[in-house]
Order: sequence, then structure tokens, then C-alpha cells
Amino acid sequence: MATSAQLDTADLTQRVKDMYREVALNPEREFHFETGRPLAERLGYPAAALDRIPAAALDSFAGVGYFLDLAAIEPGEVVLDLGSGSGTDAFLAALAAGERGRAIGVDMTEQQLQKARSLAAETDIANAEFHKGLIEQPPVEAGSVDCVISNGVVNLSPDKAAVFAAAATALRPGGRLAIADIVSAKQLPEGVTCDASLWAACIGGAMQRDRYLETIEAAGFELAQVRENARYRFVSDRADNATQKYGVASISLLARRR
Ligand SMILES: C[S@@+](CC[C@H](N)C(=O)[O-])C[C@H]1O[C@@H](n2cnc3c(N)ncnc32)[C@H](O)[C@@H]1O
Repeated sequence: MATSAQLDTADLTQRVKDMYREVALNPEREFHFETGRPLAERLGYPAAALDRIPAAALDSFAGVGYFLDLAAIEPGEVVLDLGSGSGTDAFLAALAAGERGRAIGVDMTEQQLQKARSLAAETDIANAEFHKGLIEQPPVEAGSVDCVISNGVVNLSPDKAAVFAAAATALRPGGRLAIADIVSAKQLPEGVTCDASLWAACIGGAMQRDRYLETIEAAGFELAQVRENARYRFVSDRADNATQKYGVASISLLARRR
């Protein structure tokens, strides 16, 4: 995808790391977006499933929708979580995959990784592992994954086509992509897309919805289901204004690699 000439991607990456370092270390702080177990429950995560994962992982949950019902992870499957944060979805995926399967979380923010790794070590979820890496180039073998998941992350990448191409490469033929993410009804103006702090808050990088879905298809996927997550909302006035004006919203979707 062509990035705006005015968006400094190195600065953006640093801002994203700074933001999610805080989400890992100080989740009780106020952000442009909600975090934690109350958010997960409102988005539709079953409480009984959340009871089975470390509470501290959930404290730093910063997802935007529920999609694990779409992922329908089977025992024995290998799951790749792009932008795994403190591990909520990776832990849930690891439990669904069982001891014959595993969940591989990938994230670029050191403090998120450290938190997820230490929680994995403290609990009996031995089949969840966390690796440092970029979602545009996840450190997994081609064709080795059954299901790629991701929650609230692809919008943060200035190169969404590269992320979906990497997901397609990681997946075996017929493998699934099940994600939740932020998109917009209207193309966002440069005043929003060039605002690195709105981008790091999961708003500025929102791609226009039709273009987003076309980008997934162009990477080699067939869309199976797309649904709105009406229960997701941003917190600050600034974020809320952009949301109202440009129709920024959360969707969950399932796609299959052709
Ligand atoms: C909104 S948080 C979501 C975390 C997690 N999926 C959750 O639901 O709590 C975004 C995460 O993606 C990571 N991230 C953003 N861009 C990334 C990139 N290009 N490569 C790797 N990780 C990235 C951030 O470090 C952060 O942990």
C-alpha cells in the first residue's frame, strides 16, 4: 500500500511501541481506547473462557472485537497471533488447540512480549509461545500455520497488504484468517492519517472498509464472513470525533486461504 508522504513511519513505529509499552506496564492508565476484562466481556468473550487465562494478561487486553468463534480452533492446530500484546487471544487459542497444538504470538513491543512470556511461564498454558517480530514478516515457516488470528493490530501497520501477504504465506492452503480490526466508512483525510498519536490509538491507520476487504482478497483469501462489532467504542473526545465523522468502526471477519 502506498503510504502518505507526510507519515513518518519510523516515528509511527516508535509511537506504537511507546503506547503499547504503557498498555503492558500500566494498563490502569487512561488511553484513547478501553482495555481490560470489562472490554473483553462487552465484546463477547465468554466469561468462562476468560476465567481460564491469566488475569494480568486480560488487564492489558486492548482488542477491538471477538472473533474466536469465527476462528473455530480445533485441537492439534497451530495458531499464529499477529500483534499478540500481553497474550489474551494467544492464551485462549492455546487452550483451544490443546496439548497437541500450539499458539505462537508475535509482537514488536518488548514489554508486551515479556509480560506474555512471564505469564505463560507462571501458568500451565505450556503451548503458548511468544516471539519478537513484525506482523509484516512474522518469524514462522511458510505453510506451517492452520489459523492466523489478530485483534486490533493490522490497522496499526502502514503496509496492510504486506501483513495479509505474510498471513497467506504462513498459512497452509485452506488455512483460516480470523481477525478483528478497525476500518472506516470513508477514506480518512491526511489530517487524521498523518497524526501519529491518532494512528497509534487505532484510528489514524484505519483503512476504508471496502479497500481493506479487497486487500485481503488480493493477498489470496476468500472472505467467508464479515460482521460489525457495534459494542466497540473509543474513549477520548478526539478519538470519538474522528470516529463519528468518518465512520471508524470495528469489524470481525473470517477468510480462507485459497
Ligand atoms: C491494540 S494492541 C492489541 C494487542 C492484542 N492483540 C490484544 O488484543 O490485546 C496492538 C499490538 O500490536 C503490536 N504491533 C503493532 N504493530 C506491529 C507490527 N508492525 N509488528 C508487530 N507488532 C505490532 C503492538 O506492539 C501491540 O502489542
